[in-house]
Amino acid sequence: MKQRKIYSFGFCLFLSLIQSIDTTLCLAKLVPDQIRLAFAGDRGANIGWHSFGCPLSTSNPNPTPTVIYGFSKTNLNFTSINGNSSFYDTRNPLRISWFYHVQLPNLQPSTLYYYQIKQSTYVSSSDILSFQSSPIVGDQSRPINLITYGDFGVDGLVEDLVNGRHLFERALGALQKMLPMTDFFLHHGDICYADDSPEDLFLTYEEAFNYCQSMMTNITSSRFYMTTVGNHEINCTEIPKVDQLCSSVHQNQIPYSHRFHMPSEQSGGYLNSWYSFNYGFVHVISLSCESDFPNSPSGNLLDTTTQINWLKNDLSHVNRNVTPWLIVQCHRAWKGSVAKQDKAEHGVINCPSCKDAFESLLIQYNVDIYLAGHVHWYERICLNGVVNTTQYVNPNGPVYLINGAIGSPEGNDKLSQRSNESCFLTTDPGFGYLTINDRNHATFTYYRISDMAKLDQIDIIKNR
Ligand SMILES: [Fe+2]
Repeated sequence: MKQRKIYSFGFCLFLSLIQSIDTTLCLAKLVPDQIRLAFAGDRGANIGWHSFGCPLSTSNPNPTPTVIYGFSKTNLNFTSINGNSSFYDTRNPLRISWFYHVQLPNLQPSTLYYYQIKQSTYVSSSDILSFQSSPIVGDQSRPINLITYGDFGVDGLVEDLVNGRHLFERALGALQKMLPMTDFFLHHGDICYADDSPEDLFLTYEEAFNYCQSMMTNITSSRFYMTTVGNHEINCTEIPKVDQLCSSVHQNQIPYSHRFHMPSEQSGGYLNSWYSFNYGFVHVISLSCESDFPNSPSGNLLDTTTQINWLKNDLSHVNRNVTPWLIVQCHRAWKGSVAKQDKAEHGVINCPSCKDAFESLLIQYNVDIYLAGHVHWYERICLNGVVNTTQYVNPNGPVYLINGAIGSPEGNDKLSQRSNESCFLTTDPGFGYLTINDRNHATFTYYRISDMAKLDQIDIIKNR
């Protein structure tokens, strides 16, 4: 009994010591950063962010993550629900990275909301930020505009030599110019390229991810930013020979799962791997081209059938009278030209197993557009694979756009073999801008970053 009392006393002393260390070392308040918006069902928003923990402390500096929000800056009278905190081993003994997310439910459609991450004892509040909520599902009263790209990451010294100085920052500047005319973003995987910096090569994995996400906060805190998994998220094997330097926590989508919160829960999907959402008269499906189908490039998180069964179910429940436009994003394509790097490293053309898993379903359910990245250029597949035109009138199957040229630190690809299905190809860094004008007409434009020139533009016309 006496021994138990001593233990209890010792434990209490330990706790107060930890508490006092926290207080001492957190004299200056921590700040929330990397703020990200994602859809959470037809009427919800998910807000995620990061902050460091107090130095040398394992305590959660913000144990009840909360966002307050409302219709004006001076009246933030609603409170978020479902606050969640998490961390993973970032191999930094001095400070833990904490990741938070909350939900804002039952938002009024097409409404400007102001929000603020509420302060805690050790973390200061955020600025008051704002976003526009989704239109009501089926609303066709105005066009929808989205920015699309894949393969976007932070430059280092070597990358500056490949791409010209600071392509990442220049691309952010270009996106910023388009922000007032943009409803949401689709990022088709390969987000930040943290695994190009596995350990202490200019930046560590975590430093690269944190810098990239912090620099993007202005975009991701004001527009819904919807991601899918690329090979750089699912594992850390990008650089042969030094990939053993990656931490085990940098495998199996672990950092990506902590940092992003896609609406898989609301759409019956899985993690950030596969999910769907509605925005006005558009239904968007986001797939994993990395895992969970036969012969997938990066193995399986679950199995080879769950994702495909989910896709069938999701496609079969889309009401095309309500959401006539059906868009799919996935990291990899199975059409298009062959890059020198792909030929040299893999000996395969694009992703044939993705084709086997998904293509017939996308054709069967008349998907309008398939957006991919992975190859570091912009390429447009011809109408029906053969017709060279910029007017895609009632195509047989999705319009295929490969759009991974915005700014990969690995540099843009060089052409090895042009596909006879390819009607436009450029390696100039740029991004896609998709306007869904009405139920029958969409316009896709590829903008070059350096001068915002429209390098390619097509109309997609569907007589429904
Ligand atoms: Fe990739």
